[in-house]
Amino acid sequence: VLLSGLAGAGLAATAAIATAASGGPASAVPAVPPGTRATGPDAVARPFRGPHQAGILEAPAAYATFVALDLVDGADSDVVRRLLTVWTDDIERLMAGRGTLTDQEPELASVTAELTVTVGVGRRVVEIVGAPVPAWLAPLPAFSIDRLHPRWSGGDLLLQICATSPTTVAHAQRRLLSGAGGLASVRWVQRGFREPHEGPGVPMRNLFGQVDGTVQPDVAGLDADLLWSADAGPAWLRGGSSVVVRRIEMDLDGWDRVDRLSRENAIGRRLATGAPVTGGGLHTAPDLEAVDGLGFHVIDDAAHIRRAHASAPHERFLRRPYSYDDAPDAGSTSSSGLVFVTYQADPVRQFVPVQARLAELDLLNLWTTPVGSAVFAVLPGAREGEVLGQALFT
Ligand code: HEM
Repeated sequence: VLLSGLAGAGLAATAAIATAASGGPASAVPAVPPGTRATGPDAVARPFRGPHQAGILEAPAAYATFVALDLVDGADSDVVRRLLTVWTDDIERLMAGRGTLTDQEPELASVTAELTVTVGVGRRVVEIVGAPVPAWLAPLPAFSIDRLHPRWSGGDLLLQICATSPTTVAHAQRRLLSGAGGLASVRWVQRGFREPHEGPGVPMRNLFGQVDGTVQPDVAGLDADLLWSADAGPAWLRGGSSVVVRRIEMDLDGWDRVDRLSRENAIGRRLATGAPVTGGGLHTAPDLEAVDGLGFHVIDDAAHIRRAHASAPHERFLRRPYSYDDAPDAGSTSSSGLVFVTYQADPVRQFVPVQARLAELDLLNLWTTPVGSAVFAVLPGAREGEVLGQALFT
């Protein structure tokens, strides 16, 4: 199966796969069997094969790089197939702690650090292969708050690379981009980090100091339908999903000038604990109806959690954001924000109504600006013997 897409491939990587598969000389580097620990405390290997891709349901690892690529001009179905064939082999090896077939630094692959690589495809890829295109696979509608830059928007393909080691992420990125040589080139790269700042089980803190990621649908259980493509959708997407990647600048200087109470009111939650301003603990439901002595809502009418809260059950999605903190431009003190990442079965139905409501009114808009936006279909997982995206070609 692996070889079926290789005809005519002139790439070192594809040639190497062919050599290995035909019984030729394999990599001289000792392999770490899949699913075993390599060296070091953070060397857990995540499984690659299954009905869904890795990197969605797992607790997000601390470091991530998001890479959007564009297919080469004139790319045809064969180019797409070759790329997905190479990436399938590369990702399976890297997640298991083995170098790729053309790896010059396979030692860097030996610490798997919970590596996951998740592959998404944009509209152009689906059109090129002639598969049915879901209506939602397109740029999001323009929102009034958007200041989008092409540098952070769009793309034919997405790689989400997550691990607990930035070295592991960098190495995987390097190997996967090298494997894409001649087939696709980088459009943008966004790096992020996140930590359960107060320890395991507690969501991350973003660079505003807020506990971020508290309210999530139960996508591993009762709300799985919110995450995975519906049976009524295209057959090639069964077991797949969609991902929205929005780059949102956060004005840390402006935020610093606001008193603590106003900052808490902007979100509707306490900074110290992440608990709603209406009381209780981190996981207490906010009381959106509570009023103060003057009859005003305790959770401000423009507070982020009021505006973002689902007004219907389908307006929910899995948030998987990462902070970024780039080198500031000369004269400024920060270039920071969120790589705001969400997974959902249908972004137009689930994500867009919430984003539209926030664009209309949200106190957070005083300090946040979306500067990038992209939507991809997330391929189903590759089962044993399959190549990622195989069903696109049937
Ligand atoms: C909740 C921060 C952008 C959707 C929250 C919370 C924080 C937060 C601190 C409360 C804790 C939690 O439940 O996670 C931010 C920051 C943003 C941002 C700093 C931008 C830089 C967005 C965007 C969307 C969104 C663009 C969707 C379009 C939500 C949702 C909730 C939430 C759905 C849960 C609301 C509920 O309580 O039901 N956000 N957010 N956020 N945010 Fe955001």
